[in-house]
Amino acid sequence: MSYPYQIKSLETYQQEYRKSTDNPEAFWEQIGQHFEWKKPFEKTLEWDFLEGKTEWYLGGQLNITENALDRHVATQPDAIALVWEPNHPDAATRSFTYRELQHRVMQLGHVLKKKGIGKGDRVCIYMGMVPELAIAVLACARIGAVHSVIFGGFSAQSIADRIQDAQASAVITCDGAARGAKDIPLKSVVDEALLQCPSVHSVIVLAHTQSPCNMFAGRDFWWANEIAEIEKAGSPFLPAEAMDSEDPLFILYTSGSTGKPKGVVHSTAGYMVWAAYTFVNVFQYQPGQIHFCTADIGWITGHSYIVYGPLLAGGTSLMFEGIPTYPDAGRFWEIVEKHRVNILYTAPTAIRSLMGFGTEPIEGKDLSSLRVLGSVGEPINEEAWHWYDEHIGKRNSPIVDTWWQTETGGILISNLAGVTPSKPAFATLPLPGVQPVLVDEHGHEIEGNGVSGNLCIRFPWPGIIRTTYGDHERCKSTYFSVYPNLYFTGDGCLRDENGNYRITGRVDDVLNVSGHRIGTAEVENAINAHTGVVESAVVGFPHEVKGQGIYAYVIYQGQHHDDELTKRDILATVSKVIGPIAKPDKIQFVSGLPKTRSGKIMRRILRKIADGELENLGDTTTLLDPLVVDEIKDGRISG
Ligand code: WTA
Repeated sequence: MSYPYQIKSLETYQQEYRKSTDNPEAFWEQIGQHFEWKKPFEKTLEWDFLEGKTEWYLGGQLNITENALDRHVATQPDAIALVWEPNHPDAATRSFTYRELQHRVMQLGHVLKKKGIGKGDRVCIYMGMVPELAIAVLACARIGAVHSVIFGGFSAQSIADRIQDAQASAVITCDGAARGAKDIPLKSVVDEALLQCPSVHSVIVLAHTQSPCNMFAGRDFWWANEIAEIEKAGSPFLPAEAMDSEDPLFILYTSGSTGKPKGVVHSTAGYMVWAAYTFVNVFQYQPGQIHFCTADIGWITGHSYIVYGPLLAGGTSLMFEGIPTYPDAGRFWEIVEKHRVNILYTAPTAIRSLMGFGTEPIEGKDLSSLRVLGSVGEPINEEAWHWYDEHIGKRNSPIVDTWWQTETGGILISNLAGVTPSKPAFATLPLPGVQPVLVDEHGHEIEGNGVSGNLCIRFPWPGIIRTTYGDHERCKSTYFSVYPNLYFTGDGCLRDENGNYRITGRVDDVLNVSGHRIGTAEVENAINAHTGVVESAVVGFPHEVKGQGIYAYVIYQGQHHDDELTKRDILATVSKVIGPIAKPDKIQFVSGLPKTRSGKIMRRILRKIADGELENLGDTTTLLDPLVVDEIKDGRISG
């Protein structure tokens, strides 16, 4: 395997970047030629940002699994595609060659087809981090079904909302998931969700943790039994479904500033090209290297850099079932040593949390196989950056700080490992094809260097969001109407004297807690679902490990004997409605919220109080009840 589009020097980066902006169509047409097409594309790009529409590689037909699997089975069938490291270090590692992975994907593809699932049908996947999760994703892609993976930490209600929105006809799940010392009963959560989901006719269940789970006759099927049937029939080759370039590949729900998560839709060809191009360039992947991305496949990072990117490149992807601190805080380093990991891609939250354990867990671990380190999901502070560089990379492995979003499909702004310079806490420069623009709140472009503003992108790249499922207006209004003719990211950003970009965080009502995106409105809805709660307002506050924590101001009029007990009950309600990741760190009971005369909550004030900035709250004279601010200040929860 060689990568004709891999950029190997700073000069080439500059040349390629220029080509990609001078003539984007010609640039991406040429890159598109390096993939396998069932039918060649006729036109590279059509777009209209005013309508929020982008189409790439029009007229082409392909299947992403032929590019991610069959192509490599033909040339390197015995190369390792996937390595799986279990939750507990004493359990057995599993690995799959390209031939084996393709075989298993085809088997599950047959199973899905037997259940009547075909091209365009939506399949919801709710599993722990087991190899079968990657197999399920690829099996959907093989038969042209649209996968929608839901992170294993979401509640039954969240699953039901997503299944209903996508009108999914099948679910693939596990009996349970092992995460650290916990055994999470996934199937029973699915059962609860499905009480509200008449669209689902089949559930495939993988036995993994052997925790008891009920199986409804006619609806629920054991994975192993279904595969045994296919084996009995000789496991025939399953040809890959021919997909149009713009046929949807997957839906992934993500939080925005409203209470309802949106189904971000990615299509086949553009996403494929972007995942492969960014993987090979940002990480400077070399054939044979072991790539370890610690994300969960329930998030976009896992889609693009555990499953699709590495496999499209014919690489070896390592997936890990557990958490960085189980059985102890040396787990990541032990995995790096055991598997001779070359590329480690993780989140600042994980780095900060491991920093807290000092260097003792690293001592005696051989990390000399590492070549490249990566960071994703939230701004990385300089302290964490330097710790990562010094103690993990031993000042010998470039760090790539990769900025991107669920909506962008793959990395948009990042240095290329060892090829373009890094700068602590800066994502640095845009990838070829990416044209960043900073604008002020009126949408006027801010030119020059040494400036900051809201980050937008001026021109489509192949991996851009195509629509929000079932509601294109929402896609248009969220991303393309805020500033006409620009894609709006929702992030604030500064550009230094040399043109390097540093992403400073969300400028909308989206929180980033441990790298997980959560909408304040979603959390408020969940809190308000608790009996006795009249109203609530949720803001983020700086958190040493998680990046941001959740601070909730709650007006409560229920039976109120014990504040602490009520807080616990509210947390339980939030867990039930969204999932444990959305639980507020702090709850303050208040008698009122600072509102303008038109009834709008002044979040700016609440954010400042949560930050401990009690002076200079700005103009409070326009408030309906300015006195409430003093009460909230007095009751602030510190620490
Ligand atoms: C934030 C994750 C700073 C940003 C891939 C973005 C980052 C949101 C970085 C998307 C980074 C992601 N530096 N901030 N390197 N990477 N973000 O959709 O606020 O889960 O808008 O995608 O994470 O989160 P999402």
